Amino acid sequence: MSKSSKCPMIHGAITSPNAGRTNQEWWPEQLNLGILHQHDQKSNPMDADFDYKKEFEKLDYFALKDDLNKLMTDSKDWWPADYGHYGSFFIRMTWHAAGTYRTGDGRGGGGTGSQRFAPTNSWPDNTNLDKARRLLWPIKKKYGNKISWADLFILTGNVAIESMGGKTFGFGGGRNDIWSPEEEINWGKEKTWLGNERYTEGRTLTYPLAAVQMGLIYVNPEGPDGNPDPKASAIDIRETFGRMAMNDEETVALTAGGHTFGKAHGAGDPALVGVEPEGAPIHQMGFGWKSNYKSGKGRDTITSGIEGAWTPNPTKWDNGYFDMLFGYEWELVKSPSGAYQWQPINPKEEDLAPDAEDSSIKVTTIMTTADMAMREDPEYCKISKRFQENPEEFQDAFARAWFKLLHRDMGPKCRYLGPEVPSEDLIWQDPIPSGDSNIDIEKIKELILESDLTISEMVETAWASASTFRNSDLRGGANGSRIRLEPQVNWEVNNSENLKRIISIYENIANESKSSIADVIVLAGSYAVEKAANSPVPFLAGRGDASEEQTDAESFAVLEPYADGFRNYKKDFVELRAEEMLLDKSQLLGLTASEMTVLLGGLRSLGIGDIGLGIFDENNTQLTNDFFDKILDTDIQWEKVGDELYEGRCLKTNSNYKATAVDLIFGSNSQLRAISEVYASDDSSSKFTQDFINVWVKVMNADRFDVT
Ligand code: HEM
Repeated sequence: MSKSSKCPMIHGAITSPNAGRTNQEWWPEQLNLGILHQHDQKSNPMDADFDYKKEFEKLDYFALKDDLNKLMTDSKDWWPADYGHYGSFFIRMTWHAAGTYRTGDGRGGGGTGSQRFAPTNSWPDNTNLDKARRLLWPIKKKYGNKISWADLFILTGNVAIESMGGKTFGFGGGRNDIWSPEEEINWGKEKTWLGNERYTEGRTLTYPLAAVQMGLIYVNPEGPDGNPDPKASAIDIRETFGRMAMNDEETVALTAGGHTFGKAHGAGDPALVGVEPEGAPIHQMGFGWKSNYKSGKGRDTITSGIEGAWTPNPTKWDNGYFDMLFGYEWELVKSPSGAYQWQPINPKEEDLAPDAEDSSIKVTTIMTTADMAMREDPEYCKISKRFQENPEEFQDAFARAWFKLLHRDMGPKCRYLGPEVPSEDLIWQDPIPSGDSNIDIEKIKELILESDLTISEMVETAWASASTFRNSDLRGGANGSRIRLEPQVNWEVNNSENLKRIISIYENIANESKSSIADVIVLAGSYAVEKAANSPVPFLAGRGDASEEQTDAESFAVLEPYADGFRNYKKDFVELRAEEMLLDKSQLLGLTASEMTVLLGGLRSLGIGDIGLGIFDENNTQLTNDFFDKILDTDIQWEKVGDELYEGRCLKTNSNYKATAVDLIFGSNSQLRAISEVYASDDSSSKFTQDFINVWVKVMNADRFDVT
């Protein structure tokens, strides 16, 4: 289009941030309710009845593996395979898909195929992985909906390892793709790539982040902020891998096993590498990092800036990594791209690696500063030495840690699909014995009635149990009744003395009715809602009770709520506003903004809220929309009386009320007020009741993957 033909008027919607100012830009402190609006049907191109599980069942799994295996050595001119084998490239892709997982909030990981989208598709650490994903397109096209991108990214790494002689522990499919970026994940507040404003008091990493710099998956390979100090690097590695749920042994196994394969790429001047995919011009068709250094590919590739292979046989599983690490002294050098790396002093001819394009040319191997940590850190060194001396132990540890890395965010094992799901139960899968779906519900209800527990007590206990569920890594929930075990039973939010009393009543009922405690907890809560609403509440039996042995108490500590706005609870040290924490919890529970609203209002009417906060009616035996009535009442004047604490006085009746910011946000935030108005309206009583019951049941059954 010629310049003169362009119209000077501004047209159209806000199609990019440059086109106009968004509400979020005008009011940066505004609650981002968008995190509850995302992933709706509108962004999903699949039909509403699309069922990935059913599609996956139609997949010829081994034919797919066969095709992936062939792809490994089918080198393409547009992005040639190093050593004629794409295996290591794909392993890095898979590792970087899964490695964004962090235990703190369970977010990140390879469970959604999010590496297709910003920001991770354009992170500096994912340089050139756009090519790895594109290499998979013909296979994705062939198998279509029967394999999600998310599953394909993960399975490809497994096939890659197997094709180079490595062992794997199994594969479970079942990851559903998303169709727009995850907006809820907080990757850090830095505004520049590789920026680092995430540490306080020495080197305490901001919660729940699990990478040292913006745009990295874990640590800086050159050492902390580029300082080539292996021991300091070990501290960062221990922290970031720990937040990925990996202990020292798993960390060494993974890093050494991963770097048994492939090479790093830093052939020349990094300034010659173009912009990342999201910033690239339209004709690059989604590819980024176009390099003008020589051919820009093959042996001329620039990725991390570090250059060289770790072992003499980079396309074969062996013990070369440890043999090199301990077989030589190492000196600090710079790569052709100017990055710090280490090289062996006087390597033997047989310990040189082949050139990526011509195996008759030999080049020196390398270690990154992070690799040197596997030798210089005393704990890592002990494990590395043990693995060097016991190759089979190393192989088994790698296979298991790799399996955990790839499946940690998938929730319970019953979600895994396909013929290669390992039969062994693993503690990090939070195993739960299967329950009985044929329990005598009426008898349990009778026993509950005899127990004298109040509606509030029954509702709160069921809530405390079920609301530990996180949609992010699908952990927690009411199944397993882990609320009666450490650490949950003693969490501050759970008011343990009272909880233990209630649980002992439920244990007796479970014994007498031969049902699980988990089912009794949920049934009691649902029965209480049923009575308060005077309307049936569906109940799905069949939960089991996990034992202490089946529970890794330490790993459950991360599920402890720092805040639970539904119970008007927040720990003192939490800096985020209570209403932001409510949004965070609602997103983790998979709630929409309307579901969050009706749930909170309904719970308040049943007496759920700390010491009367937000509870505007003393009769807590009826499910009513009273909360919304009061919140929207213009005769009530609110005043701030403490940190996130408010008092209201009704000008007409002189009645006094107490509430928190979590309560008042439903009157003050324009979007939440709009939803509250729906539930407060005179003609909405039955809608309010039914919507509350629906979302209640949704939370109670959020973890029932055994039946859905
Ligand atoms: C401390 C942790 C780690 C650090 C600092 C690190 C760093 C790096 C760097 C800088 C590269 C070079 C990328 C390039 O320039 O192409 C690389 C490549 C690679 N990494 Fe890691 N890595 C770590 C852990 C892992 C783990 C846990 C795995 C898998 C289990 C893994 C698998 C690989 C593979 C296979 C390659 C070769 C890619 C290729 O040949 O194209 N790494 N890593």
